[in-house]
Amino acid sequence: MPADLRPTSTPDAPPSRVIVFDTTLRDGEQSPGSTMTGPEKLQVARALDQLGVDVIEAGFPVSSPHELESVQEVARVVESATVAALARALPADVERAAEALADARRPRIHTFLATSDLHLERKLGIDRDQALHRIAQSVEAARRHVDDVEFSAEDATRTDPSFLVQAVRTAVEAGATTINLPDTVGYAHPHDVARMFDAVRDGVPDVDRVVLSFHGHDDLGLATANSLAALEHGARQVECTLNGIGERAGNAALEEVVMALRVLPRFRERFVTHVRTERLCPASQLLARITGVRPQPNKAIVGANAFAHEAGIHQHGMLADRRTYEIMTPAAVGARDTTLVLGKHSGRHALVRRYEELGFTLTPEETNRAYELFVMLADRKKVIHDEDLLAIYYGGTMERVPRTFRLEHLDVRCGRSPSWARVRVARGDDETAEAEGTGDGPIDATFAALAELAPWEVRLDDFAIRAAGGGSDAVGEAHLQLRIEGRPFTGRSASTDIVDAAARAYLHALDKASHADRLEARAFERLQLWGV
Ligand code: KIV
Ligand code: ZN
Repeated sequence: MPADLRPTSTPDAPPSRVIVFDTTLRDGEQSPGSTMTGPEKLQVARALDQLGVDVIEAGFPVSSPHELESVQEVARVVESATVAALARALPADVERAAEALADARRPRIHTFLATSDLHLERKLGIDRDQALHRIAQSVEAARRHVDDVEFSAEDATRTDPSFLVQAVRTAVEAGATTINLPDTVGYAHPHDVARMFDAVRDGVPDVDRVVLSFHGHDDLGLATANSLAALEHGARQVECTLNGIGERAGNAALEEVVMALRVLPRFRERFVTHVRTERLCPASQLLARITGVRPQPNKAIVGANAFAHEAGIHQHGMLADRRTYEIMTPAAVGARDTTLVLGKHSGRHALVRRYEELGFTLTPEETNRAYELFVMLADRKKVIHDEDLLAIYYGGTMERVPRTFRLEHLDVRCGRSPSWARVRVARGDDETAEAEGTGDGPIDATFAALAELAPWEVRLDDFAIRAAGGGSDAVGEAHLQLRIEGRPFTGRSASTDIVDAAARAYLHALDKASHADRLEARAFERLQLWGV
């Protein structure tokens, strides 16, 4: 192990408690597309509190009257966590932060000033002595309001180490209780972070009186690694955001740091957090729903593919023993169960297992025949759905599904709750039916009306709509999964009208169910299954 990253505590010592400081509502909310309204911030704040983070940074009150109000509201509803408010090292900022936190059960004022020469000279136009003066003044002012004061030396990783030590000393002497050393522009390597913490711990006499903290940005994809290096070198607080949202490339992702501490033997014995990890995915999904920004599918821990396996060798291993390809269980982070995605890389084992889950036990000959057809289909389609397996079983495919249901008319009324929809659908050539439905929004109402017309029992399992291209006239692509008489069928459609796209996707799934019924009937008529 490189000398720089040697652990600072002995392996036998009791685990150290790591304070998880969440800044989703402040640094995260600053990122493009992640802006939240006051009520949305409250929803996220409640979820963070239930997740078990120690500190929730609620915002930057001086930035606007609306922000002040929203921090005040968060301060009122959060029950367990400390609520922090950000303030530049300026008297007016500190006053405003104190005002915002007046009703918090556990308030913290977080004041910051840049310490790198680049920021001091070019951004603030002040010298080092003036900076030290402002640090002392703002920390003392904050301490007059609250006992819990954090000072951040913005751009710490690009600060001359001897001046950083001076700045930290000044903040500690002025009464700061937490000292945060940010990698503001995501420019540090874990070795640099380790050296920075070592230098501060060696150079500041009363450093044990304060909690050291790290705040990493992900411009080079090193934010999580840097946070872990900081912990190994004396930090006991990490600052992070859900899904890693934040300025530019984002902040260290809370779920990554917490799970690295939980999963890796190197950290497991030495550090604990109070995060209820099984709430990680639900919290991530709540944030994604509110902001409309979904984490990329391959995002660690919370991405849609974080527990999906397609390669045949991996699927075989997973079926034999999940530990072969999973280092944590989906349940540990509140994710949906592992999915073995069936596609052209999948093998026989996964295919047989999926048929079993669908209620079909295949004989060896049936397996051979099904696998042959499966491979042919997988060459043409990215993902093989359960409905495809059903069709294969009955000797057909779900490609070129005949149209059974046609949308003739759709009328919706929304804007007032509940929304209302009327649909007219033609079935085959000579049957037309009409139905009405109400629901939470126009799509929900349309689905309720369509469910009335469906000749089967239908449940909506999954629904997503995505704009293809920018602009308000973008095409909306609707994807959904229906459970029709207990069997899953997907549907998709696209239209510039998203309600229309959703309705057509619904009918597409009904068409597939109708096709499956016909295939099944034909198979029974022939009284032969599986190439007999
Ligand atoms: O990135 C940063 O330096 C910050 C500070 C305000 C803590 O967000
Ligand atoms: Zn930041």
